[in-house]
Amino acid sequence: MKNKDHQQLPLRSDYRGILLAGGNGHRLYPLTAAINKHLLPVYDKPMIYYSLSVLMLAGIRTIEIITTRESLPSFKQLLGDGSHIGLTLSYRCQEQPGGLAEAFLLSEDFIQGAPVALMLGDNLLYGNGLTDRLVQATSALSGATIFSYPVHDPSRFGVVELASNGDILSLEEKPQTPRSHLAVVGLYFYDEQVVELAKQLQRSPRGELEITDLNQKYHEQGNLSCQTLGRGFTWLDAGTHDSLLEASNLVQTVQNRQGLKIACLEEIAYLKRFISKNELLTLMKNLPTCEQKYLHERLQEEAHRVD
Ligand code: G1P
Repeated sequence: MKNKDHQQLPLRSDYRGILLAGGNGHRLYPLTAAINKHLLPVYDKPMIYYSLSVLMLAGIRTIEIITTRESLPSFKQLLGDGSHIGLTLSYRCQEQPGGLAEAFLLSEDFIQGAPVALMLGDNLLYGNGLTDRLVQATSALSGATIFSYPVHDPSRFGVVELASNGDILSLEEKPQTPRSHLAVVGLYFYDEQVVELAKQLQRSPRGELEITDLNQKYHEQGNLSCQTLGRGFTWLDAGTHDSLLEASNLVQTVQNRQGLKIACLEEIAYLKRFISKNELLTLMKNLPTCEQKYLHERLQEEAHRVD
């Protein structure tokens, strides 16, 4: 089936974002025995910062975080109502892990018929030109956009098979015999149909509403696009001990080499003009000295660029 050529429009101001930060984190036991996985450190920040920063880079400012009842107070303590970084954050409780697509049923009154991006809170995406790719996805007039990334172990993921012209040939969730080595990244962009399509899904044998089944519905309509993230990008899910350490090492290596931070929320809020320079300066007063120094350097750099 042919992918639809998406008409490009600027980001709609009502675009919503959902971050999934629930689950039991079994694969990270005992780290997760008392702490939600998405609050664990990835080098120098809580894991959730990385996925939140991706939604912010996409230009999305109205975001709901779905998590467990026990973890809700910690997320609220960490991020509050988001207004300090120009966001409107809300929180939703998921009592039982019911699959990624269940998010659209839980958050129906948050979405209010708007287009919505869903991101998994343990995914980390990094690479030159990422913002452009994200903005491209949010500017599609209709349909859905997924991202693929080559991996050596595709059976662990949703897998997409592409024709040579980029058309989607097939989608499968954790296939034993994958038809390609392209994993589907945990970041999805959907148009206004998403809630209605999610309501039509049947639970899978593991009792979940599968995101791959939802994507399949868009694909059947001829309304699903796939953007491949190639060698210039890094995609990690920090859901295992090894990938958690790899993610920390990556962030440490890049930050120490460049002196630039990945997922500094205050910096992104300012660069995306979610907050003004004066609001940033006020915010900085409450930050530790090292954070203040970092942000002052960025402001100075920007001033030099303008000169
Ligand atoms: C989920 C999705 C899968 C996707 C992956 C990305 O897998 O079901 O399609 O490729 O996220 O991280 P899970 O995290 O449930 O194993």
